[in-house]
Order: sequence, then structure tokens, then C-alpha cells
Amino acid sequence: QEDVLKKVVSHAKEYGFVFPSSEVYDGLSAIYDYGQNGVELKNNIKQYWWKAMVQLNENILGLDSAIFMHPTIWKASGHIDAFNDPLIDNKDSKKRFRADVLVEEFAEKFEDKAKKEIEKAKKRFGEAFNLEQFEATNPKVLECRKQKADILQRLAKSLETNLADTKALIEELEISDPETGSKNWTEVRQFNLMFGTKLGSTADSATDLYLRPETAQGIFVNYLNVQKTGRKKLPFGIAQIGKAFRNEIVARQFIFRMREFEQMEMQFFVPPGTELSYFKEWKEKRLNWHLALGLGKDNYRFHDHEKLAHYANAATDIEFKFPFGFKELEGIHSRTNFDLSAHEKYSGKKLQYFDPEQNKSYVPYVVETSIGLDRMFLALLSKCLKEETLDDGSSRVVLNLPPALAPNKVAIFPLVKKDGLPEYAEKIFNDLKFDYNIMYEDKDAIGKRYRRQDAIGTPYCITIDHDTLTNHTVTIRNRDTMKQERISVDSLREIIGENIEL
Ligand code: GAP
Repeated sequence: QEDVLKKVVSHAKEYGFVFPSSEVYDGLSAIYDYGQNGVELKNNIKQYWWKAMVQLNENILGLDSAIFMHPTIWKASGHIDAFNDPLIDNKDSKKRFRADVLVEEFAEKFEDKAKKEIEKAKKRFGEAFNLEQFEATNPKVLECRKQKADILQRLAKSLETNLADTKALIEELEISDPETGSKNWTEVRQFNLMFGTKLGSTADSATDLYLRPETAQGIFVNYLNVQKTGRKKLPFGIAQIGKAFRNEIVARQFIFRMREFEQMEMQFFVPPGTELSYFKEWKEKRLNWHLALGLGKDNYRFHDHEKLAHYANAATDIEFKFPFGFKELEGIHSRTNFDLSAHEKYSGKKLQYFDPEQNKSYVPYVVETSIGLDRMFLALLSKCLKEETLDDGSSRVVLNLPPALAPNKVAIFPLVKKDGLPEYAEKIFNDLKFDYNIMYEDKDAIGKRYRRQDAIGTPYCITIDHDTLTNHTVTIRNRDTMKQERISVDSLREIIGENIEL
């Protein structure tokens, strides 16, 4: 499984999707740059989201708020006091870990044990036996799951009440540094994830600022500006795509957990008391958005939160099956009126909405959908990257991205660099380039050019050969079926257009 991730990382680099940031200086941990194909894929994902959220919903409007915000915003939102991760160091290896992640990964081993028991039973009794019943009643499986649940419960309690208990739990379970095996731990302490910086030129007049750790607060403090100038009644939403920054302690798994990343967030403002039905509605809508991409229903699941943050009255994650297991891709939260009320309190300004139907003013409730753009990117790369063995025994690497999201829609190849073929190819290129991202390639043999386009996910390759000059037909090759068809140049736009629409 981890092998898949390694392949994704090296493919992303080799084909211009993702590079380690500042690579000539040996990189910067958990920061990445998107290359020529990566930026196109990212833009297409953003467009796909924006279209579904803003363009197709007349009661959702867009926003692009600044990354720097008044520092009191982060006091009001709770980020200064509570946006922390529990941190622990290993005294021997000098490595730093998230204490909660160490314990969670340890607890996960009991789940692995349970799975092994189930696999063993499957082998012994064959496919016919009742697996569900076995899982629900087998004492060994039940014991493993109980151990896991107990550990997680103790962890949650200790994090809430006393970090010394978290350390005691780590010691009692004899959890060691996964690389060195050392069990020599420091105390557990809280670490704030916000990056700080300064505004102003002289030391005494400078103000402490933070890089925003979520885009949502820019939406909250602008909600009345947008509502009034956009002339909207509740329920209405505001959508935003933008960078967020978190000083993550454990930054592993490529672009899954980064220190600088992008979020696509939407806050839906609703009358108090109606939030849970909108929460349900958005859960369903957002899952359908994912499913429409065709990566496979089995790769998604909801993870409803049992333990809720103090400001939420319902929360769920849409989890995706990444190469390292099911993990959060998107969060959907019913955030009550927590944020808006806090901003009223700290700013001293009224943030109430006048409801003409109820003839009264109130602070709206908020349902939020929040997805990490980079996680979505990783989800696509890891599911679409395939190695196929062909009928003739050879193999190819293909990135079968949904055509609408592919960085380039078409590649144009003159068969040879002479006899007027390049000129003809350029004519087609210049005609189509106003509608789609197109590549022009005249180097290497045709087979090699096809392979290159397969690897970056281009849905169509068009080859111009000597017959083209006389009968104005070209071959068009489909990335997924590898079938080639001869079609007239005039019908190109129609055939391509039909298949790459969002
Ligand atoms: N406004 C709500 C909010 O920020 P969150 O669950 O902390 O909620 C939302 O983040 C989404 O942002 C996550 O589901 C994830 O996709 C993405 N995300 C969060 N931290 C990230 C990180 N360090 N790197 C990449 N994506 C991240």
C-alpha cells in the first residue's frame, strides 16, 4: 500500500505535477510546489468545485478574503487559545511526535489484529461462511476491538483533562519511537499550530499577525457585507478557495498534510433551529459531488463524529481510501452560531440578520463544508495512476483522470517533421487552443509520444499524417481504450467537446 504512495510521489515529480519546494536547497519540510501539469489539474478541481457550489446554486456567492486578518479574529474564533496539538519529544532520537497520533497508531494495531483473525477464519471456513456474524461474536476479534476502544477513550479523556495522563498512557502502553525503539519520552505539551508574523516596520509599532489557519473566518467577518450587497435572504452561502497555513508537527504522507495548503470552504447561513436538516442535505450533496467523478463508491465513507467540538452540534468527515487507508478528505460541520456570536462579542459590532419573514433579528446558524484541495489532488492521483499490462505483453503507465479534470485535453502530433505535416498540425493547434489546453509534440516516435500523454492523463491524441493533407482526416486516439479512429478534421471539436465537459 505504501508502495502506491511512493509511485505517486515519483510520478508526480517526473511528470511535472508536484515538486518538493525549494528543491535546489534540499527542500522545505511539508511544503510543495505544483508544476506545469499540477497547476492545471488543481485549477480544474477548483473550477469543478466552484461550478457545483457557486455557479449552480443561486443562493451561494463567492468571496476572496485576505490571508492577513485582524489578530483579534483568532482570539474570537478560539484559535489562539485552543488550536493546539499535543506534542512529545523522544529524548534519545530527538524526534518530535504528536502524542495523540502515537497513541492512535498504537491502538490501530489492535484493529489490524482483529482483521488478521477475520482473514484466518475466511481461509479456514471458505467464502460461504457468515463473516458478519464471525466479526460480531468471535471473542478474539471482540477483545481486540475492545482494547482499541479503551485506549482511544483514555486518550480522549487525558487530552481533555490532563496531558500528564497522556504521557502516563504512552508509558503504560510502552509505546516506542517507531524508528529507533526508544521509550525515553519528554512531557506532553501543547503546541499552537498558527504561524505568526509581524505587520509594521519598526519593532515597537509592529503588530503580531497570524497566517490564517482556515479560510472560514474571512467568510464569517464578511457575511453581512456579502448578504447586503448580494441582496440575499437566509438560507444563503458564501464560498471561498484559498491558502491556509498550519505549523503541523507530523507532516508526512506527501501532500496529505502540508504546512501551506489550499482549502475550498463554504459556509451556509441558516435560521436557528433549521441547521440540522441543512447539515443532512449538505452531507448528501457533497458526497454526490465526489461520486460524480467516478473514482468508485467504495473509496468513500462517512465518519460521523461522536465527540463534538464545543461549537458544533453535528459533524462528519467524508473519508477517502488513500494509499495509507481511509482518511479525512472533507469535513462537514454544523457550527451553530458560535463564530458569529464570538465576533459580535469581540468586535462590539452587531452581526445580526434581519429576517423579514419572522420580523426579527438574530445571529444565523452556520453549516460548513470544507475540503482540502491538495487532498483532493492526492485522492485523484492515487486512484487514477495505473500500470497496465497490454495484450502484446508490454506495459504502460496511464493516469486515467476524469477527462474534465485532465491538465491537457488534447495532444497534437505531426507524424513526421516534414512534408507540410507540422504546418497542418499547427493549424489545428491554433484553431483548438482557444477552447482547450492543448499540447504540441513532434519529438520521438508516435508510440513514445502516446505513452507520455498517457502518463499525464491527456484524454485524446490527434495524429496528422500524409493522408491528412489530401482528405483532411486525422487519427484520434482515446487514452483509456487506446483505440484509434479516423475522423474528419471538421468534427474534432464536437467529438472532443462531448467528452470533456464537467
Ligand atoms: N474551517 C474548518 C476547517 O478548517 P479542518 O477539518 O481543520 O476544518 C478542513 O480542515 C479540510 O482541510 C480537511 O478536511 C482537509 O482536507 C484540509 N486540511 C486540513 N489540514 C490540512 C493540512 N495540513 N494539509 C492539507 N490539507 C489539510
